[in-house]
Amino acid sequence: MSYSGTVVVGGGVIGLSIAVRLAADRSVTLLDPAPARGASWVAGGMLAPVTESWPGEEDLLELGCASLARWPEFAADLGVELRTDGTAVAALDAADAAQLDILADHLATLGRAVDRLTGRELRKREPAVGPSVRSGLMVPGDLAVDNRELLRGLVSAAARAGVTFDRRCAQVVEPGSVRLAGGEVIRCGTTVIAAGAWSGGLHPALDQLVRPVKGEILRLRARPGVLPLTHTVRALVESRPVYLVPRKGDELVLGATQYEAGFDTEVTAGGVHRLLDDAERVVPGIAEYGLTETAAGLRAGSRDNLPLVGPLEPGVLVAAGHHRNGLLLAPITAAAVRAMIAGEDPPAEVLAADPARHVPTRR
Ligand code: GLY
Repeated sequence: MSYSGTVVVGGGVIGLSIAVRLAADRSVTLLDPAPARGASWVAGGMLAPVTESWPGEEDLLELGCASLARWPEFAADLGVELRTDGTAVAALDAADAAQLDILADHLATLGRAVDRLTGRELRKREPAVGPSVRSGLMVPGDLAVDNRELLRGLVSAAARAGVTFDRRCAQVVEPGSVRLAGGEVIRCGTTVIAAGAWSGGLHPALDQLVRPVKGEILRLRARPGVLPLTHTVRALVESRPVYLVPRKGDELVLGATQYEAGFDTEVTAGGVHRLLDDAERVVPGIAEYGLTETAAGLRAGSRDNLPLVGPLEPGVLVAAGHHRNGLLLAPITAAAVRAMIAGEDPPAEVLAADPARHVPTRR
């Protein structure tokens, strides 16, 4: 069997965004046994490069900010709404407050100053935050998106653009072909590996570069009478990160645990307990919400938290390893892959994500 155009392996938010972008000027097949699921289905939906940043990760911050700037147009094209209320960041104990100070000082040195607040000032801006919060930050520029609405928008856009969905499972990618589970081989033009945590098994160059990082999330529903959140709230609770992302209506996503546990996607009682306990210390009203869903996904971790976006060998590109930032980085990743395949220069911020920083590649 053969496909004349480009095959994108992986139908999460990265693979779908690439497929939609490429389908504007070439024929595209998307290979995934369960598109629009995986880590993208479980994501919190924060588009938050500033509150994800840390000293030493300046390239990731630049990449994230460049992608954030593309989000309003990306969302509008897909007919998906963005939340623009920004992020309230909270610290519980003295060590958590010290960590927020490090983040705020770091951002200030990069010319991206954020508002530092006492616990009382933070509560005035986000009344759902409880009295145990010691200090905080307000980050007005962060956005958020409903990940499931986004996935529906991407699948519809891909179908409209003529992308062929092939639900078979890829096993090995080589120049000009993809071997499927079961042994059948598909011949094709260019292949883009965008299979998230599974990318490491698809090409020998990615073997040690992409690893699964488990994350559990909860979905909650505000019952009548509870004080709703007006912002995304992120917090450090005894150094453990927790976030609460309000959705349209009465839904809230609470995440996320982070473990290196291989390809395990079972939700554990301990994970649920930890998330609820930490969240309640930040937003006490959370105990009055209904619990509607628990889920686990596998982030695609990379060695340096930067993704891998670029050619591996002639006719084979990778777009994986987006770790905690898959949704945020989707627009710039898709634009970069389209440019690379068209023989144009990708956005400058993507050069830091070249896989050649870790492994020899051939163009
Ligand atoms: N982007 C949030 C997470 O990975 O949990």
